[in-house]
Amino acid sequence: MEFSIKSIGPDNAGKQAGRKAGNQTGIKAGSDWARHKCDCIVAGVFDSRRLSAPAQALDKAAGGHLSGILRHGDMDGKSGATLLLHDVPGIAAGRVLLVGLGKETEFGDKAYRDAIAAALRALKNTGSKNLLITLSALPVAGAARHGAAWRVRQGALVSHETLYRSDQLKSKQDDAGPVFAAIAFAVAAEEARAANAGLAQGVAIAEGANLTRELGNLPANICTPTYLAQRAQKLAKECKLKCETLDRERMEKLGMGALLAVARGAHQPPRFIVLQYQGGKPKEKPVVLVGKGITFDSGGISLKPGAEMDEMKYDMSGAASVLGAFRALAAMKLPLNVVGLIPSTENMPGGNATRPGDIVTSMSGQTIEILNTDAEGRLILCDALTYAERFEPDCVVDVATLTGACVIALGGAASGLLANDERLAGELLEAGQISGDRAWQLPLWDDYQDMLKSNFADIPNISGGRAAGTITGACFLSRFTKKYRWAHLDIAGTAWRSGREKGSTGRPVPLLTHFLLKRAGKL
Ligand code: BES
Ligand code: MN
Ligand code: ZN
Repeated sequence: MEFSIKSIGPDNAGKQAGRKAGNQTGIKAGSDWARHKCDCIVAGVFDSRRLSAPAQALDKAAGGHLSGILRHGDMDGKSGATLLLHDVPGIAAGRVLLVGLGKETEFGDKAYRDAIAAALRALKNTGSKNLLITLSALPVAGAARHGAAWRVRQGALVSHETLYRSDQLKSKQDDAGPVFAAIAFAVAAEEARAANAGLAQGVAIAEGANLTRELGNLPANICTPTYLAQRAQKLAKECKLKCETLDRERMEKLGMGALLAVARGAHQPPRFIVLQYQGGKPKEKPVVLVGKGITFDSGGISLKPGAEMDEMKYDMSGAASVLGAFRALAAMKLPLNVVGLIPSTENMPGGNATRPGDIVTSMSGQTIEILNTDAEGRLILCDALTYAERFEPDCVVDVATLTGACVIALGGAASGLLANDERLAGELLEAGQISGDRAWQLPLWDDYQDMLKSNFADIPNISGGRAAGTITGACFLSRFTKKYRWAHLDIAGTAWRSGREKGSTGRPVPLLTHFLLKRAGKL
């Protein structure tokens, strides 16, 4: 699927139409739209029955054909509605797809994304291969950050997300080749530069998220810690990253007793992946991204109930998002230094598995009473967080499907965010807001720290009750992050969807990459 920018130049013939629509993008919508040859032009209609500026220009070229259809009541402009028209007179494209945008005054981030997704879904099985989407030329509510670069970046992200297929492991693939060959996003001529930059970023991020989706969806019998390490090595080769993978012996030497306690029950050997991207000055302190890489979480001896246990193959989504972010980061060649750390193992029961009550020594030296072997994410992360110290990081962000409680608190809309530094938290919240891959902050007050008390070790791995589960999980991690600025993203609710639409979302790659883009001064 090829993306491009189609900028529409000034055209006196269309001046009127552009002004009438209250067009703020500076587009002099004209006959350019109508002359553009492709399989389908996508044009928006506001609720109720108001043509957007590009749609007005098409309507003018078509001698009022579109407004006639609206008058007949075939399309009211409600969000999600679509109407496909063939052989519209005066229009070079074979088809025009009208898509409902909802109320013009409420046309913001979500309405914009939803409209593109609805259009692509409507065109999936129509035989249209080359599209021109004019929605990207519309003003989107939400101040300067929703300029042309934003609209096009989001366009690329939404397109990949909507069209992603996961049929690799079916004996017959659903269809050969991509659904669409080429998608062009329309913008005004003076926006072309910004739009092209936004498009390159959007494609890089979307391809990063695709890697995350692919790895997330792979079953645990294929996506083992060894497999993840191999994929990291492959990525490093393709993107010129440094990659090192540590085996059990190295972890023992490093004293990673918490990580190794989780790995005990598994037959698959654990791996610790270290990725390094050097785009900044040699002495510049790196951002360290840490991803939870539990390739299957059975709960261990504290075995999980059977229902939906298959979804615990997604427990490596944090790891997959770090790999996806690195892919995007390298493609965008950002001037930053970034380190990726991925502790990876299965969490399985077995005769050699860690028992509830066992006490182990973490790499930090702190002893941990493992009261519940299902609280394993924090055990592998704490050793990775200690390992992070050696990079003298500017900041560390860990990404983990850490707690079921986070799914209860925030559902699929936002990832949980907890941090020991408010500025870092603010950066991540903003990156989530801009990318549409949002996070919501929870407190990390000392009141909650008191809930983690063990009679026999320095710290227990659970608090004992179910209250504030996401926060107590983060409190545990915070005991290992005292030496640097740190934030934790709990992605238990956002990394994948359950039920009929089951599949990895590729989140939080958009959030992470926007965070890095902003730091690199590219946003
Ligand atoms: N991987 C799970 C968290 C999870 C559960 C994510 C369900 C998404 C859906 C994690 O390892 C876990 O089991 N957490 C426990 C912690 C508890 C034992 C303190 C949980 O949330 O139940
Ligand atoms: Mn668990
Ligand atoms: Zn887990």
